[in-house]
Amino acid sequence: MQEYLQGVIVAAKGAPTTLLISLVAVFIGLILGLLVAMAKMSRFKILRGIATIYVDILRGTPLLVQVLILAYGIPQIISEWFGVSFHWEIKILIGFIACGVNSSAYMAEIIRSGLQAVDIGQTEAARSLGMSSAQTMRYIIIPQAFKIIVPALGNEFIALIKETAILSVAGIVEITRRGQLWASQSFLSFQAYIGVAVIYLIMTLTLSRIVAYLERRMAQGD
Ligand code: ARG
Repeated sequence: MQEYLQGVIVAAKGAPTTLLISLVAVFIGLILGLLVAMAKMSRFKILRGIATIYVDILRGTPLLVQVLILAYGIPQIISEWFGVSFHWEIKILIGFIACGVNSSAYMAEIIRSGLQAVDIGQTEAARSLGMSSAQTMRYIIIPQAFKIIVPALGNEFIALIKETAILSVAGIVEITRRGQLWASQSFLSFQAYIGVAVIYLIMTLTLSRIVAYLERRMAQGD
């Protein structure tokens, strides 16, 4: 029993790192995702094309592979091309960038579908009242889309918490890596990874409760 408790405690020490990476990644993902969603809905074909390729590549390749490219591939090619030795001084940056950029592809779709879910009649009514298309977006569409998007954003955050486990291959000492390190020195793999699982479970269950609550709150106005 003592060992299980130790496993949970070791894993818990990685929780702040996991949480920080997930938070920063959601933020980066939201901003980039907004840009990509706008590009996808743009009048310009080239912009739409670029956005589509961006989303396709990020969603069509494993996050694990994207992390490996960023963590190990990029430093090698920079060294080769520029003759400088590059290595990630601050490892957590790999997590921010890889998870943030990856998430932006998913966010773009969330935002786009949220905006498109607002009934077209709302736009028509606003425009016929003399609002410009920018005003319609700002005062009519976005506030309604927001309600639809918030729960999906919460779910993206929960997904990211689990996905950051992949960063353990890049030497980022988050929850999973903590467990790995302890397992290899204590030989208690079972206790280590059960401890890791328990910590993720506590985090995701807590957050999904919060998301469900927000969803109910948001629905009340309807
Ligand atoms: N599991 C997916 C993969 O390995 C990554 C999904 C990332 N999900 C997200 N919502 N950002 O490719």
